Amino acid sequence: MTRLITIPCILLCLSLATGCQKQDKSQPTQSADQKAAALPEADGSTLIELITVTQDYRQWPMFPGKEALYKGQHPHGAYLTTYVSPAVLAALQSKSGQLPDGSIIVKENYSPEKELAAVTLMYRRTGYNPEGGDWYWLKYAPDKTILAEGRVDGCINCHRGVKNNDWVFTGPVK
Ligand code: HEC
Repeated sequence: MTRLITIPCILLCLSLATGCQKQDKSQPTQSADQKAAALPEADGSTLIELITVTQDYRQWPMFPGKEALYKGQHPHGAYLTTYVSPAVLAALQSKSGQLPDGSIIVKENYSPEKELAAVTLMYRRTGYNPEGGDWYWLKYAPDKTILAEGRVDGCINCHRGVKNNDWVFTGPVK
C-alpha cells in the first residue's frame, strides 16, 4: 500500500522538478531576444535616462504641425510642447498608419504660467500590451520623480478614444 502511494509521488515530484528546470532555461533565451532587439526596456528610469542623459529629447523634432507651447486641454496642461523620436517623424510623414516598434513621443505639460508641470511619454514595444496598442505610458515630474508608469489604466482608457489613430491625439498618423 505504501509503495503504491510512494511511486506516484516520486513521479509527480520528478515531473515538477523537470517543469521548473524547463522554465529556468527559457528565461535567458528571452532576455537574449530582448538584447537582439536593441530597444530599451519599458521601464521609467531606463527611459528617463535615455531621453535626458544618453540623448536629449529636446533636440528631437516636434510633432509635425505643432510648435513649442501650443495650447493644450485637460488633463495635460494649459500649454504643451510635444517631441517625437526620429522614427516617429518618418512614420508620420509617410502616413504609415502605425508607429514602429521603439517609437517614443514625449510631451511637456506646462501650467497656465508656462512653468513645466510634468512630462508624459508614450513608448511602443511590440508585445508589451496588445490590448492597449502595445504602448507603455510614463508620467514624471520636472525633478524626474516617476508619477505613473506602465500599463496605466487612466492613460489607456482616455487614449483608447483615438485607437484608430494608433492611440495618438495630436495629429493624424495616416
Ligand atoms: C482624459 C483624457 C486623457 C488622459 C487621461 C490622458 N491623456 Fe494623454 N492626451 C490626451 C489628449 C486630448 C492629448 C492631445 C493633447 C492635448 O490637446 O491636450 C493627449 C496627448 C498625449 C501625448 C502626446 C501624443 C498624443 O497622443 O497626442 C502623450 C505622450 C500623452 N498624451 C501621454 C499620456 C499619459 C502618459 C497619460 C497618463 C499618465 C495620459 N496621456 C492620459 C488625453 C488624455
